[in-house]
Amino acid sequence: MSTDKSASWSFAEGLPDEDPVLLRARERAFELGVPSVSPGTGMALSVLAATAKARTAVEIGTGAGVSGVYLLRGLSPQAVLTSIDHDVEHLRAARVAFAEAGVPANRTRTISGKAQDVLPRLTDGAYDLVFVDADKPNAPLYAQQAVRLLKPGGVLLLNDALDRDRVANPAGREPVTVTLRQLIKRLREDDSLLTTVFTVGDGLLAAVKR
Ligand SMILES: C[S@@+](CC[C@H](N)C(=O)[O-])C[C@H]1O[C@@H](n2cnc3c(N)ncnc32)[C@H](O)[C@@H]1O
Repeated sequence: MSTDKSASWSFAEGLPDEDPVLLRARERAFELGVPSVSPGTGMALSVLAATAKARTAVEIGTGAGVSGVYLLRGLSPQAVLTSIDHDVEHLRAARVAFAEAGVPANRTRTISGKAQDVLPRLTDGAYDLVFVDADKPNAPLYAQQAVRLLKPGGVLLLNDALDRDRVANPAGREPVTVTLRQLIKRLREDDSLLTTVFTVGDGLLAAVKR
């Protein structure tokens, strides 16, 4: 039996057939120099949002809206996505992507500001899904806020949780790598959560609040 995991990874990443809306959003992201979720991660976001039957979701790190489009495609038709970014150019590009995706304006709330400042203003226990995809050093803070924001049964998703294969390598001692490794350990040890890391994209951590 073949053990070529990279071939399986490439196969899975190639499965989503991205439409012109997503391809244009990726182009805008490229022009702005902001990364976007991989196609495999995007599709996982759609599937997980649909599985959670999420009606209220928060995204930390809007970027040019690629992940937002994937989330909105999985969320319930009446669901509202609150998306936070401190870069107004990114938010503008994301709003274009959401409009091109045919999402009514009342289904998205884009908030301009630092996530550290905005998150404490959001209501406890009011959200079904929180997706974290912003500055990695603050991932523990965002995860802590996410757990506060989630309803019981809600899900926290953290993008790039494996830090380009560095988290899995015990010799990887860069500060962000150590932060993410410790965060995964802490979330796994938290009995109020059910946590795993999907090996899609650069690792998608998922933690359900029991
Ligand atoms: C990786 S990109 C997000 C990509 C987006 N989730 C996607 O896949 O389309 C990270 C985003 O987080 C934003 N960001 C970084 N630090 C932030 C902070 N402290 N508060 C709010 N936004 C932040 C950046 O401006 C950037 O748009």
